[in-house]
Amino acid sequence: MFAMSQSKALISGITGQDGSYLAEFLLGKGYEVHGIVRRVAIEDPEHRLARLDAIRSRIKLHAASLESYASIHQVVANVRPDECYHLAAQSFVSYSFDDEFSTLNANINGTHYMLAAVKNVVPQCRFYFAGSSEMFGKAEEVPQNERTRFHPRSTYGISKVAGFELTRNYREAYGLHGSNGILFNHESPRRGYEFVTRKITSGVARVVAGRSSELRLGNLDAKRDWGHAREYVEAMWLMLQQEQPDDYVIATGETHTVREFVELAFGLAGLNYRDYVAPDPELFRPAEVNVLLGDASRAKEKLGWSPRTGFEALVREMVEADCRLLGVEPKVRARVG
Ligand code: GDD
Repeated sequence: MFAMSQSKALISGITGQDGSYLAEFLLGKGYEVHGIVRRVAIEDPEHRLARLDAIRSRIKLHAASLESYASIHQVVANVRPDECYHLAAQSFVSYSFDDEFSTLNANINGTHYMLAAVKNVVPQCRFYFAGSSEMFGKAEEVPQNERTRFHPRSTYGISKVAGFELTRNYREAYGLHGSNGILFNHESPRRGYEFVTRKITSGVARVVAGRSSELRLGNLDAKRDWGHAREYVEAMWLMLQQEQPDDYVIATGETHTVREFVELAFGLAGLNYRDYVAPDPELFRPAEVNVLLGDASRAKEKLGWSPRTGFEALVREMVEADCRLLGVEPKVRARVG
C-alpha cells in the first residue's frame, strides 16, 4: 500500500476535526499516514469516520484504547512512526465538570501511555502534544504567551497541563523530541456540534431552514481567540520539523466575545440574534475562562507560521457550510453593517 521510503506519521484522534485536517495535510506532504481509533469507530464507519471519508482509502487505521498501555504499545510497535501527533482527548470543557474522573484518567493516562510507548519503541520519533489555551484559564496576563503562568479552571485544563508537563519531562529526562502546541480555539465546518461556534452556526442554519426558532446559549460575555483549524494543524507539523523541540502558542492575536460571534453569524444570514437566542443558566460553567488572547510571536519567528483566516471569514465559512448541509440557500450577506 505504501512506498518504503515515505515518512510515517501516527495520529491519535484522527477522526476529529484536527486529526482529519492533519491527515489530509500530511498526505499532501507525501507521508504514510496511520491513525489510532477506538474499535467502535471501525465498527460504525458511517458516523464515526465521516470526517475521513475523502481520504479513507489512503490512510491506515488501527484500533486501540487510550485507557490501555498494551494496546497503544502494540500500535506504535507495528507502525514504528517517524512522527507522532497525540491529539486524542476528552476535549469538551463542559463535560469535564460532569465527569472529572474520566476526563483526568483518559487525558492524563492516555498522554502518558503515548509518550511511554514512543520512548520505549521508537525513541527517535518526534512527538507532538496537543496542549491548549485552557491551561492559562484564569489568565494572569493578556495576551498569553509561552511564559504565561498556567491557572487552569477545569479538570480538562488540569489534564492538559499534566500532558504538557509530561511531554516536557520526557524531553528533558529522556531526550525525546517532544513539542507542545498551546493552541487557542480553532474552528471549522468540521467542528463538533457541542462547541459553541458550531452550535451557533448550525443553529443559524436551522433557523434559516425554518426548523427552529430558538437557540439556547450560556455565557455570551466570554472572550475567545478563534482561528481556523486547517491552518493550526500546519503549525503542529512545523513544530516537528524543527531541529530542537519547543513549546509554541498558536493563536490569531484577536479576541471576540461569544456575543460577537452570535451577532455576526445571525447577521450574515440577515437575522437579528436577539430574536432567537435565549439565555440558559444551565449552560454556564462552574468556573469560566473569561478572556483568551494569544501572542503567537514565537511561532511566527521560529516556525514562520501566521494565521490567514480572519474572524468574519471563519464565521461566514461555517454558516455557509451548515446552511448547505440543511439544503438551504445561505443568502449570506456580503458585509455586516
Ligand atoms: N459549548 C458551549 N455551549 N459553550 C458556550 C455556550 C454553549 O451553549 N454558551 C456560551 N458558551 C461559552 C463557554 O462558556 C465558553 O466560554 C465559550 O463559549 C467557548 O466554549 P467552547 O466552544 O465549548 O470551547 P472552549 O473554549 O471551552 O474549549 C475549546 O477550546 C480549547 C482551546 O482554548 C475546546 O476546543 C478545547 O478542547 C480547547 O482546548
